[in-house]
Amino acid sequence: MNPLNHVAIIMDGNGRWGLKYKNSRNAGHKAGLNTVEKIIKETIKNKIKFLTLYAFSTENWKRPKKEVNFLFNLLENFLINRIDELHKQNIKLKIIGVKNFSSKLNNLLNKSEKKTLKNRKLQINLALKI
Ligand code: FPP
Repeated sequence: MNPLNHVAIIMDGNGRWGLKYKNSRNAGHKAGLNTVEKIIKETIKNKIKFLTLYAFSTENWKRPKKEVNFLFNLLENFLINRIDELHKQNIKLKIIGVKNFSSKLNNLLNKSEKKTLKNRKLQINLALKI
């Protein structure tokens, strides 16, 4: 077994990075999601079994509504566009935290978890609202 079994990342600094280099916090969030994709590839390459992403805290909920909406749209689109591919790659998605978002997002999260439940290559724990 790989001695490094679990990598956990607190997603932070995306907004500041976006403001500094792209003059937009949201551009930083988009870039952060691209980095998540790269990290997923690297975790698989390095045979790491668990990747925990602390993506959204209860504190983050207090941000301007526009930014919160943007973040949840990003997550929705990520699930809509990427879940089949993650499933094909034998990746399991697990939500840790609270699933009390819009019914559209709750359904997407539940469907994505159910679809990938038996996958074994990598488990991604997505920490939301904890
Ligand atoms: C940290 O940067 C990032 C967040 C709080 C949100 C990350 C969430 C997403 C990109 C949604 C989709 C997530 C996944 C993993 C599919 P920050 O805004 O705290 O940056 P700052 O510290 O510069 O303010």
